[in-house]
Amino acid sequence: MRWLPWHPMAYFFSRFFLSGQASTTETEIGPMRLTQDPIQVLLIFAKEDKQSDGFWWACNKAGYRCNIARTPESALECFLDKHHEIIVIDYRNPRHFDAEAICRSIRATKPAEHTVIIAVTLQVSAGQEEASVLPLLHAGFNRRFLENNSIIACYNELIQIEHGEVRSQFKLRACNSVFTALEHCHEAIEITSEDHIIQYVNPAFEQMMGYQKGELIGKELTELPKSDRNHADLLDTINTCIKRGKEWQGVYYARRKSGDNIQQHVKITPVTGQGGKIRHFVSIKKLCCSNDRSKQTYRIHHDEKCTGDQFQSDSHSFRCKNRRKESIDAKSITSQSSDATSLQNHRYSSIARIHSMTIEAPITKVINIINSAQENSSVTVAEALDRVLEILRTTELYSPQLGSKDDDPHTSDLVGGLMMDGLKKLSGNEYIFSKNMNQNQSVPVTISDAPPCIAHLLDNEESWDFNIFELEAVTNKRPLVYLGLKTFSRFGICEFLNCSEATLRAWFQVIETNYHSSNSYHNSTHAADVLHATAFFLGKERVKGSLDHLDQVAALIAATIHDVDHPGRTNSFLCNAGSELAVLYNDTAVLESHHAALAFQLTTKDNKCNIFKNLNRNHYRTLRQAIIDMVLATEMTKHFEHVNKFVNSIIKPMSSDESNSNNDSGDCEYTHSLKNFPDNQTLIKRMMIKCADVANPCRPLELCIEWAGRISEEYFAQTDEEKKQGLPVVMPVFDRNTCSIPKSQISFIDYFIMDMFDAWDAFAYLPGLMQHLANNYKHWKKLDESKCRSLRLPSENNLGS
Ligand SMILES: *[C@@H]1O[C@H](CO)[C@@H](O)[C@H](O)[C@H]1NC(C)=O
Ligand SMILES: *[C@@H]1O[C@H](CO)[C@@H](O)[C@H](O)[C@H]1NC(C)=O
Ligand SMILES: *[C@@H]1O[C@H](CO)[C@@H](O)[C@H](O)[C@H]1NC(C)=O
Ligand SMILES: *[C@@H]1O[C@H](CO)[C@@H](O)[C@H](O)[C@H]1NC(C)=O
Ligand SMILES: *[C@@H]1O[C@H](CO)[C@@H](O)[C@H](O)[C@H]1NC(C)=O
Ligand SMILES: *[C@@H]1O[C@H](CO)[C@@H](O)[C@H](O)[C@H]1NC(C)=O
Ligand SMILES: *[C@@H]1O[C@H](CO)[C@@H](O)[C@H](O)[C@H]1NC(C)=O
Ligand SMILES: *[C@@H]1O[C@H](CO)[C@@H](O)[C@H](O)[C@H]1NC(C)=O
Repeated sequence: MRWLPWHPMAYFFSRFFLSGQASTTETEIGPMRLTQDPIQVLLIFAKEDKQSDGFWWACNKAGYRCNIARTPESALECFLDKHHEIIVIDYRNPRHFDAEAICRSIRATKPAEHTVIIAVTLQVSAGQEEASVLPLLHAGFNRRFLENNSIIACYNELIQIEHGEVRSQFKLRACNSVFTALEHCHEAIEITSEDHIIQYVNPAFEQMMGYQKGELIGKELTELPKSDRNHADLLDTINTCIKRGKEWQGVYYARRKSGDNIQQHVKITPVTGQGGKIRHFVSIKKLCCSNDRSKQTYRIHHDEKCTGDQFQSDSHSFRCKNRRKESIDAKSITSQSSDATSLQNHRYSSIARIHSMTIEAPITKVINIINSAQENSSVTVAEALDRVLEILRTTELYSPQLGSKDDDPHTSDLVGGLMMDGLKKLSGNEYIFSKNMNQNQSVPVTISDAPPCIAHLLDNEESWDFNIFELEAVTNKRPLVYLGLKTFSRFGICEFLNCSEATLRAWFQVIETNYHSSNSYHNSTHAADVLHATAFFLGKERVKGSLDHLDQVAALIAATIHDVDHPGRTNSFLCNAGSELAVLYNDTAVLESHHAALAFQLTTKDNKCNIFKNLNRNHYRTLRQAIIDMVLATEMTKHFEHVNKFVNSIIKPMSSDESNSNNDSGDCEYTHSLKNFPDNQTLIKRMMIKCADVANPCRPLELCIEWAGRISEEYFAQTDEEKKQGLPVVMPVFDRNTCSIPKSQISFIDYFIMDMFDAWDAFAYLPGLMQHLANNYKHWKKLDESKCRSLRLPSENNLGS
């Protein structure tokens, strides 16, 4: 590029290049960007000579600012005024002044901590032995410069120092700001060396632990008293995790100097330093809210995770089981006091538990194997394996392994019955649907005309404890129409769909009629129950905030239709029996596909009940898509996939966000931000309908017991039929002669319910449900134990073998 001579930029550029130095420079330390002002140099020479001139002109050439001082006093004064980065002291002539004394006096000042001081010494004359520079270094000099008055020699010296030591010192000075941040931070922070020697603690740490930093720094962590509350292998787990360079996060008991145990949320991050090795561990600790003594819980030591790494120790399955039991006990203790703090605690523990939510899926084993293989492999292999892990984590490999791990027959039967599509197809055994349609019952003209007893019951419709069985009774087995009309009007569904209440009513009638009232569980009462739960969830602040009106409409419709025309048999049964539906849907999500497909057929086949008829094409397609997605999500084969995705995409980002600010407006912003990610909304909707579908164990005890009886009866009937027809019995424990309902409920809760509701609760905040769940679980446990203690019942004998 050529500049015309008269162009103002030409002048600028000539100066720029001649002076060899821009006015400010940018450098970085870690993620921090710094701007460095022009370098200032102080020359301390008693007399002006060629050497001082050489440095003067060199500074000029390099674009540095330069001062000259003639006496020790003026030198110090000038330095304290300007804080020069470089000081050059004439060391050649001891008669003028004591250069070492000047150096020492400057070094002794605070601003000199990062200053580079140079001694100009005489050239070594020929034959003379070169002296060591050590005395100079001891005096506080950083460098020696052999007398050379050539400007270029002085210039080279200065710019080398600038690019080397001055820049490093400049970066180090910026660390003061980082330490200031640490010192004022509310979280307790501890930095240790790679061999766990404490190097730093901040004031918040001193306060939390009751130690002074002088008592800690330089000590090895093992020298400090430990709490005995932690699970025995917790420390090993943590060490294994962080030694591999992974972050560990979880809950840990620590012992304060006074001897108290406190529960902390801890995040330990390894920091690599020189040689690419781990050089420090940074621990950030926060008190768990449950440190209030009256609400102390003893559960959380299992809530841990090794980030980026679904690391678990081999004893996981044992711990996982215990965790479930303990968490229930703890929760029932905690929630005795129903004040705000306990609710807060409850929420926190749900979120904390999410981090340990790891169902024994094959993926977990694979990840563990790869992790241990990484330990001894070369960097390139380890990096390749990191990528493998990344892929494994983000794809859909979450379905658990069946049978092998869990010797509990109830669990494996449930898994087999609910999650497996049949393997064996028997021909000529098609399942015939018993369509028993009693379409003749009258339904009022509008919901406001409902008989008073029904209207009165429905007043309580928004409460979780609403008794759906009473509604079933007073409506003469038409709970879906009545509850549906009430709920849909509350959510403005007719307005959204632009359809009349008459159309909606006709639609509900058609749908309800297509539920089989001969099923003891999957009849329209179940549909009404799921609709009720879905509407309840939609009322929760977070759920409401993250979904659009279309999502709400889709969710309520999906809940209504999600089991329509259910034959009272599981997918496995239909596949084994080679039923028409199984053939039609290639043994894949047979029932769920049928529910969705039939519901749309029933809806659109007759204008009288077509609630979609006034929707424009685009709205209809979006709505239809959302409804189908939700109905298919109720299929249990993908249970763990849906739950895991929800946890990974919604709960984990959210809880890390929450720990930054416990802020209502932040929360609002947060849920609002979910609206910008339709994928996340989909995960929320799937989770919502899944939870609504199996919410029975979270209902009040009497309702829970009734549901348990109904589902068991339906499974018994299936087993009866399998035996009669010579089909494989998919859930042998559900034999009416031998089954223990408490055991089957306990297994179902352990395996499917607990983790899922923990996650859903962490999102939607459902303390009432979690309380019911804990009570109901205890109820089944008590029944189970008392049964075991009493005279052995035939059922127990059979189950034991
Ligand atoms: C002084 O520095 C110049 C330039 O670097 C060099 O050529 C010359 O040899 C040096 N003189 C002595 C005496 O070291
Ligand atoms: C890695 O190597 C060390 C030392 O050779 C050995 O003790 C350890 O068992 C190895 N780990 C694995 C997972 O192979
Ligand atoms: C339907 O209801 C009408 C009157 O309400 C009655 O006469 C008729 O017998 C009913 N049909 C059936 C199949 O129950
Ligand atoms: C609602 O549907 C009717 C037809 O039934 C149509 O005339 C009207 O424009 C629709 N309103 C809206 C807002 O789409
Ligand atoms: C559902 O099945 C139960 C039997 O378990 C029955 O009592 C109830 O009336 C049925 N409900 C409907 C709506 O068919
Ligand atoms: C079932 O499989 C056949 C053959 O692969 C395929 O043509 C058909 O579309 C499948 N049906 C469904 C519902 O997936
Ligand atoms: C939502 O989705 C985006 C992109 O898919 C993802 O980055 C984010 O973590 C998700 N979760 C939340 C809570 O926003
Ligand atoms: C809460 O959020 C608001 C708005 O986002 C913010 O101004 C405020 O500083 C936050 N408070 C805390 C304690 O984080």
